[in-house]
Amino acid sequence: MTILDEAVSEECGGSSSRGAPREAAGNPTVSALLENDHRSIDAMFTDVEALILERNCTGASTAFQTFQKRLEAHIAAEELVLFPAFEEATACNGQTSVMRSEHAAFRRLMTEIHTALEGASERDPLPLFQELGRTLSSHNVKEERVLYPKMDANLDGGQRRELVSRIAIILE
Ligand SMILES: [Fe+2]
Ligand SMILES: [Fe+2]
Repeated sequence: MTILDEAVSEECGGSSSRGAPREAAGNPTVSALLENDHRSIDAMFTDVEALILERNCTGASTAFQTFQKRLEAHIAAEELVLFPAFEEATACNGQTSVMRSEHAAFRRLMTEIHTALEGASERDPLPLFQELGRTLSSHNVKEERVLYPKMDANLDGGQRRELVSRIAIILE
């Protein structure tokens, strides 16, 4: 187990994620909303990767800008709304600080990929983009298995609805 994994699996205050509610009709959960957004971003990732593999630089660059904007919105929703709510509910910031540092790494990588796709550096965008895909996947697994369910488990129905709507506004 790495240091990051240990931080993510640490136990703090609040309820455990076991028995966290799934989406009920008209009562969406943080897990359902953000997992759906992960899947949308995954689909966009696949499209950009295909264009890079085809060496379609113009198409890849345009599709990457859309992907980047979408991932930036997801990260903003987590950092501005979800993580502060999680830290308040659980009195714990180890897990969120690991997630924030991984977000910072995604932002650095996206800047490098953008520069490579624009032809402004000698670097091949494909390995950079694939590295982003690998690190993003493992990040998403940690959020989906630990952080999102724990957040849902620490909110009552009204609090959950309010948090979900605040997150959804940023994702729109
Ligand atoms: Fe995240
Ligand atoms: Fe996420």
